[in-house]
Amino acid sequence: ALISMRQMLDHAAEFGYAVPAFNVNNLEQMRAIMLAADATDSPVIVQASAGARKYAGAPFLRHLILAAVEEFPHIPVVMHQDHGTSPAVCQRAMQLGFSSVMMDGSLRDDGKTPADYAYNVDVTRRVVEMAHACGVSVEGELGCLGSLETGAAGEEDGIGADCVLSHDQMLTDPEEAAQFVKATGVDALAIACGTSHGAYKFSRPPTGDILAIDRIKEIHARIPNTHLVMHGSSSVPQDWLAIINEYGGAIPETYGVPVEQIQEGIKHGVRKINIDTDLRLASTGAIRRFMAQHPAEFDPRKYLQESVKAMADICKDRYQAFGTAGHA
Ligand code: G3H
Ligand code: 13P
Ligand code: NA
Ligand code: ZN
Repeated sequence: ALISMRQMLDHAAEFGYAVPAFNVNNLEQMRAIMLAADATDSPVIVQASAGARKYAGAPFLRHLILAAVEEFPHIPVVMHQDHGTSPAVCQRAMQLGFSSVMMDGSLRDDGKTPADYAYNVDVTRRVVEMAHACGVSVEGELGCLGSLETGAAGEEDGIGADCVLSHDQMLTDPEEAAQFVKATGVDALAIACGTSHGAYKFSRPPTGDILAIDRIKEIHARIPNTHLVMHGSSSVPQDWLAIINEYGGAIPETYGVPVEQIQEGIKHGVRKINIDTDLRLASTGAIRRFMAQHPAEFDPRKYLQESVKAMADICKDRYQAFGTAGHA
């Protein structure tokens, strides 16, 4: 059944687990996520980005998610809009039946320029007012995502690419977070704690505390009833990078957020963990390998099936690692 994010994450908080939020753009991703959730008895958050709407169109995405709900009626599903750039974008998602929206007011409505605090409060408060009137949950964002190692905002061609980070913006301020939640009434808050979007988070194998775990603790202590969200949480599996490069790919050395660091965050209030890149890598690796090993095959279902399997394996791993498994 389709449920709100507030409902799902309240349960996660009560039982001390987190829910991975996977981005969805196509049928194969949707099926992989649901097959993994079904196999592990996990609740599901699927999210559609602006890029997904551009690729598939909002109606197709909506029906893809509704089809998943219909085929797996025993699994709770949150249909979430990722990185809304304005109240109007969020309003449209609510009209389409999304049960949760993100108003990312940390950036201006170009989705690139860092916004000031007053702007962020204004747009987010307006979205909360509309959303809560119809039972829809709202995620806000405070701070600018950026890798603590490289200082980069990440994602060359995506959200926040031109974000120029000062050290202050790289970590969400706990006091400001408390004010922001009070002023807006958001259900969930995306925080900057050392992660960044895309495949190029860290240039060296991350050791020790690559995330600002102490900062997560401080924020959670100030806003214990607001669910913390970690964007840019792909782990960038080295085995899939190796497969991609073995079969003709050319991805430079790069590292993501270790699962153990995410588990540490979950102990301190992180309840929603955004993952897109890992499924892209698994999908590409599986298809490259299949194509290389079966050069005469031309039925797309054959190689797409491989990508579904590869993505479902990642989803299962995350459902288990984050404690989501068994809570559907
Ligand atoms: O937050 C970014 C997500 O990975 C979505 O990426 O805009 O390329 O769909 P996208
Ligand atoms: P990754 O690029 O690390 O998968 O993060 C995705 C994300 O945060 C979507 O909002
Ligand atoms: Na941001
Ligand atoms: Zn994000």
